[in-house]
Amino acid sequence: MRRPFIAGNWKMYKTNSEAEETIRYLKDKLKEIENVDIMIAPPYTALTIAAGITAGSNIYLGAQNVHYENEGAYTGEISPPMLVSAGCRYVIIGHSERRQYFGCTDKDVNLRLKSAVRSGLKTVVCIGEKLEERESGKTFDILSSQLSESLKNLSEEEKNMLIVAYEPVWAIGTGKTATPDIAEEAHKYIRGKIADMYGRDFASGVRILYGGSVKPDNIRDLMAQDNIDGALVGGASLDAESFSKIVNF
Ligand code: 13P
Repeated sequence: MRRPFIAGNWKMYKTNSEAEETIRYLKDKLKEIENVDIMIAPPYTALTIAAGITAGSNIYLGAQNVHYENEGAYTGEISPPMLVSAGCRYVIIGHSERRQYFGCTDKDVNLRLKSAVRSGLKTVVCIGEKLEERESGKTFDILSSQLSESLKNLSEEEKNMLIVAYEPVWAIGTGKTATPDIAEEAHKYIRGKIADMYGRDFASGVRILYGGSVKPDNIRDLMAQDNIDGALVGGASLDAESFSKIVNF
């Protein structure tokens, strides 16, 4: 059985005081939850504050990106050991906004994943097609090549630290959620492709999250699908009340 995983990607939102308020509320509101893994990814600047508040709770911390070197002259970048020292257990890699605005490639995703795991971080690897790719019938080709490259040559340890997130770019921040059927079709394809790469046993246990306009009123239908194991929530994770409702699907 795959354990549900609900994650909030805060993107470039919330100052430290705003983050503190939201996390205190979430910690209290979600303290009874035992059957769902909960992760939030605040901006880097709020990680240390978030770590202090969530310590010992059932809310895990993640970062929204990571560099693949442990240190060096890379102005503006953050390394895996730095994230660990700030209290992170997870990191999101290859989000479509990183791909679109900051040139992140599947090769980068593979390097970052391997480097993050070396530091003990669990990774949420994002993939997903753009609108024009879906409309021209290329969705599965795109998913296939993203998976082949970004999950290339994974060791047992790297595989065990992997979570995949399917985020169709056309559904992110647009209010257009993929219908549960469309999302399930993609998730099923992704699990099949992972089975081709690493075998059925591994593929049947790996968690695949859906992301793209997840809200309290659509989470239940999404989670009812066979191959949807959780959600990576953007906008609706910024509001503690709506994120709590999503966790309580
Ligand atoms: P929205 O939930 O705002 O569509 O964002 C999804 C997302 O990009 C999560 O990583």
